[in-house]
Amino acid sequence: MSEVQDRKFDYDYDGIQEYDNPLPRWWVYLFIGTVIFAVVYIPYYHFGGGKLPGAQWAEDMTEWRRLHPPVPLPDEAELLALAAQPGLPERGRQIFATRCVSCHGVDGGGQVGPNLTDDYSIHGWSREIVARVVNDGVPAKGMIAWGDRLSRDDVLAVALHAYSLRGTTPSNAKAPQGEPIAAVAKAGDHGTAGAH
Ligand code: HEC
Repeated sequence: MSEVQDRKFDYDYDGIQEYDNPLPRWWVYLFIGTVIFAVVYIPYYHFGGGKLPGAQWAEDMTEWRRLHPPVPLPDEAELLALAAQPGLPERGRQIFATRCVSCHGVDGGGQVGPNLTDDYSIHGWSREIVARVVNDGVPAKGMIAWGDRLSRDDVLAVALHAYSLRGTTPSNAKAPQGEPIAAVAKAGDHGTAGAH
């Protein structure tokens, strides 16, 4: 970079003179560079075949989804087996305490979200259904799709915890929502409801 030398225009208005300093070379080259870049970039990416980041991202995601098809959620029997795994109830309880209490209350009695302890439910009550609701959410109604935010193991742990809350007595129970839980859903449920 050359040393800057102040130059002046050779006119003088009532003693006022004006500088005529050229822009630094590096600045001019950078400017010319951006012009050349734009001449190539704009026609190619906006009018030619080039893909803008959004389109490229969508294409990559489609490819990613093709290579990683969704793993189906476990069924009732698999969930029942999982619920017996050591450490899992505690993990589920912890995740519930950080992720779910804001809407379902500290002990699942319900707030913005429905009461999880009573004998009523909106979507039905089996381990499988609860796991699906927790994983997929009900975005239109404010229930988050936890499958997008938690690992599969965490989703299942917290779903099983939510399931186990039924039959417990919360300090603040929200009025029932949905339909009475069918007796069928209770069959095969060997007393996990209310287990701590
Ligand atoms: C932002 C608020 C919010 C958070 C956080 C939230 N939920 Fe929900 N949840 C809701 C709402 C609202 C519904 C009712 C959806 C409907 O009407 O279909 C719901 C429904 C449910 C249901 C179905 C209840 C039924 O009656 O069928 C379960 C189970 C559930 N949530 C579990 C969870 C778990 C587990 C978490 C934590 C991982 C969680 N929720 C976090 C708002 C929330």
